[in-house]
Amino acid sequence: MQSRSFPQHLLYGGDYNPEQWLDSPEILRQDVALMQQARINTVTLGVFSWAELEPNEGEYHFGWLRAIIDDLFENGIRTILATPSGARPRWLAEAYPEVLRTGEDRQRMLYGERHNHCYTSPVYREKVGLLNRRLAQEFGNHPAVILWHISNEYGGECHCDLCQNAFRDWLRRRYTDISALNKAWWTAFWSHTYTSFDQIESPSSRGDTGLLGLNLDWKRFVTAQTRDFLRAEAAALRSAGARQPTTTNFMEDYTGLNYYELAQEVDYVSWDSYPRWHCGDDIATALDTALQHDMMRGLKEKPWLLMESSPSAVNWHEISRLKKPGVLIGSALQAVAHGADSAQFFQIRQGRGGFEKFHGAVIDHYGGSDTRVFREAASAGKLLEELSAKTQIVTSHVEAPAALLYDMESRWALEGSQGPRNEGLFYRETLRKVYSALRRCRLNVDVRSAQSIRDAQGLSRYQLLAAPMLYMFREGFAEILRTYVQHGGTLVTGYLSGVADETDLCWLGGTPHGLLDVLGLRTEEIDALPDGRKNLLLPCKAAVWPKADYTCEHLCELVRLGDAVPLLTYGRDFYQGSAAVTFHSYGSGQAYYVGADAEQAMYDDLFELIAAKLAIPRLLEEMPDGLLVSSRRSESAEYVFVQNFSPEPKILQIPEDARLLYGEATLRPYSSVILERPN
Ligand code: GLA
Ligand code: ZN
Repeated sequence: MQSRSFPQHLLYGGDYNPEQWLDSPEILRQDVALMQQARINTVTLGVFSWAELEPNEGEYHFGWLRAIIDDLFENGIRTILATPSGARPRWLAEAYPEVLRTGEDRQRMLYGERHNHCYTSPVYREKVGLLNRRLAQEFGNHPAVILWHISNEYGGECHCDLCQNAFRDWLRRRYTDISALNKAWWTAFWSHTYTSFDQIESPSSRGDTGLLGLNLDWKRFVTAQTRDFLRAEAAALRSAGARQPTTTNFMEDYTGLNYYELAQEVDYVSWDSYPRWHCGDDIATALDTALQHDMMRGLKEKPWLLMESSPSAVNWHEISRLKKPGVLIGSALQAVAHGADSAQFFQIRQGRGGFEKFHGAVIDHYGGSDTRVFREAASAGKLLEELSAKTQIVTSHVEAPAALLYDMESRWALEGSQGPRNEGLFYRETLRKVYSALRRCRLNVDVRSAQSIRDAQGLSRYQLLAAPMLYMFREGFAEILRTYVQHGGTLVTGYLSGVADETDLCWLGGTPHGLLDVLGLRTEEIDALPDGRKNLLLPCKAAVWPKADYTCEHLCELVRLGDAVPLLTYGRDFYQGSAAVTFHSYGSGQAYYVGADAEQAMYDDLFELIAAKLAIPRLLEEMPDGLLVSSRRSESAEYVFVQNFSPEPKILQIPEDARLLYGEATLRPYSSVILERPN
């Protein structure tokens, strides 16, 4: 177990934008008092303060920020300090137009919005670097500043000439000579052969969008360039003596960047969670959020921070619903349950104007503490404070017997692959189905980027490993999975896995590449079903399965069986009766194959069968349907969080070896229970 110097307690607070209120000192005074009342112990400052920090080029104003940081600190509130590169002041774009972004149509943007800057531009890098260094000189040793929040939600891409040249250089480094690139990108197709790196252009609707290797490497380059920009921001802070740890905040299901790469440049991963509560099935929403929490934890395999969430409604969903009573606390506890050491909001005080004036806030336009949202925020603050004081939650970690693999580069290749369904392959939905099934088994789950798995040793702590739709197998990856199974692991993979290599060239000689003997089969064809069309999956041994049949849709793979045992067969079409879900023993382990996009119930039942067969210890022996359970373990105890995200009450049987730390065994809608179980 790692020892930890940061944070000392659960962080509670959020984004605070005093630069919008500098002419209202009485408001700033009230804010501090209200924050104390809500037990807020940490605020994030400076995210969008560039225009106040450097109103004209080279003219720096840090006094106002220092006064606020000091005042908060005197009142027991610490600061997470942002570098303001997420939005630039007007003077910068006016003086140096190159800092503005160029679109894929090669048109330069006008000044405006936030993430409208070129990550390659030497001027942008220089100006951000100068300001970061000054910030670090001012606050790099300030006792109130506990963490650097580098930029804000990095995202987007730029196609300017500077970026084109950087892309060409990046490709030169990757391939050395142009013939290697031609081979990797299969450019003989449509006579697209390059004779020089100088001919390369980023994908554009005015040029190439169909060169799949180019598309994939461009996305890698955008990630590499953003990562390099992040590295430069952090280096600027360090070079000026900043000692505090760093983070940068990520977004939910953002596919524009490979976060695994960015995570390598910071000390802590953090993310901004804005679930669409009460618009559909809240349990599904809670599971989706849980999946994202676990994905974020997996990026560095250590505790992470919930950097933003709304105390109630947001203002940018198609329909911005209020969080029902209980959901504010439930969301904060859910993050902690999945390994977060904080629950932070966007925002502490609602602005009077601008795009986000109706976004939920702890302090709204009314400005007092007698509001429903404030009261709930204050209860959450009290609860987190007690948890920090009375338990070892801050030194605890999530331990999981099962892992779910995903991969952003593989997803890029899969979703850009042109066939078998260009109208949706449902990758994220499939991850969620597998994840939900594992959670329904009352297991903690690690969600890991396949890119992070360098050897079978890294998998040995998992009894169960799921790798659905893992389209890209990098060189050597099949060997890792083989060794894992050989040594006793249980692998569940399936359709569209192990199809292509790192540059989206299809593997020859049968797929899933390198695993034919492990799985006891090879794939032959894949049928894509129009929306709404379904096939059936029928159990081979009816007694084993809770249901008589299951449906599947979208994709049905046809496999040629070696010595795998069919568990479910297709019920319709010309492949009726052929294997759809199979089992195979290999070495001292086992391998399952799921050939079709099956309904949730099939995944639920399959994983329950596997978890029972492997006798994986469950977090709870029993639990009513619709509750979610997750846990963290410290040196002395395990903290088990049971949450009801449904509109109906549920009754939990408290296990004899556990003590009720928080909540009631009859879980009201949107309420939670925390159990403590000595190790
Ligand atoms: C993002 C941003 C914040 C704010 C919130 C609103 O997460 O980082 O600055 O715009 O969204 O939900
Ligand atoms: Zn650019």
